[in-house]
Amino acid sequence: MNRIITLDEFIIKRQKDFPFASGELTGLLRDIGVAAKIINREVNRAGLVNILGIEGHENESGDTVQKMDIFSNDKMIECLSNSGECCGIASEENEDIIPIENVSGKKAKYVVAMDPLDGSSNIDVNVSVGTIFGIYRRLSDTEVPVNKEDFLQKGSELVAAGYVLYGTSTILVYTTGKGVNGFTLDPSIGEFCLSHRDIQIPKKGNYYSVNQGYYSKFDLEMRRYIDHCADSNYRLRYIGSMVSDIHRILFQGGIFLYPNTRKYPQGKLRLLYECNPMSFIVEQAGGTAINCQMERIMDTEAKEIHQRSSIAIGSPEMLDEMKQFVAKYQAVV
Ligand code: AHG
Ligand code: MN
Ligand code: MN
Repeated sequence: MNRIITLDEFIIKRQKDFPFASGELTGLLRDIGVAAKIINREVNRAGLVNILGIEGHENESGDTVQKMDIFSNDKMIECLSNSGECCGIASEENEDIIPIENVSGKKAKYVVAMDPLDGSSNIDVNVSVGTIFGIYRRLSDTEVPVNKEDFLQKGSELVAAGYVLYGTSTILVYTTGKGVNGFTLDPSIGEFCLSHRDIQIPKKGNYYSVNQGYYSKFDLEMRRYIDHCADSNYRLRYIGSMVSDIHRILFQGGIFLYPNTRKYPQGKLRLLYECNPMSFIVEQAGGTAINCQMERIMDTEAKEIHQRSSIAIGSPEMLDEMKQFVAKYQAVV
């Protein structure tokens, strides 16, 4: 039988891959692992909580029942603030950045951009949700509080990124730029255990994932590519949580699209909290991630923290095929 390798053990071993690492990143990833376990517990109880009380109201025991995305946001902030490795957070749920004070004299070097609960509309109907995070080295001096510029870095500057998928089982997938590994939560021991080593995305696949309901709002070239997917009998899957949709594609191959629409001319998904971290993971697994202007997501200039982007991400050969459609039909317009 294979020996169990826990997330904590794995991260500590991997610290050796970084010659000048002093353990801060290791500590930070562990903090995120702890937050993920707490969120997981609450996600699993969500149905039960709904029986006891309505969001924002008191339950029978007199506790205030929070919306799950606010709860997840609070837990991530709390865990990231505890060990003093993180000096600031940008969250999809907060308008402004959240500076974190130094803990016990430590001078934290890292900032975290996160979507604490992705696909939150799924929670009420017992369907998978996720958490996404991206970690950057701070740019400003450690003597002063963080500022927005610390977060306005390109995805190519990410030091680490990952997601947690709260699905039929709970899995944490992360990269520090040396491949991608996945850890499944064993509820009996409360540990994330290495279950998917060195994940490689299939070069091509037969899944496509897009909100087909917006078809008429997409540009011509995207519509032609989506027609091609349907004509080729690719299987359409759309959960409405990009973590879940991309997780399938990471393992089984395919393409996930959230193009610009009339309502969202820049695309809907957020560059810092969703597109960059997921792109880093998919690229590290051998995939491709671009926007609908055919530019690499991770090379996008970040001008504001809640910036949106269009995205096409997944198996490299499918992305190449999509680019050919775009080149052909853009020429027609
Ligand atoms: P969030 O729950 O964090 O707001 O994210 C939902 C996102 C993404 O995960 C998903 O792919 C997309 O929004 C779904 O949007 P549509 O309902 O417009 O398809
Ligand atoms: Mn999201
Ligand atoms: Mn969210």
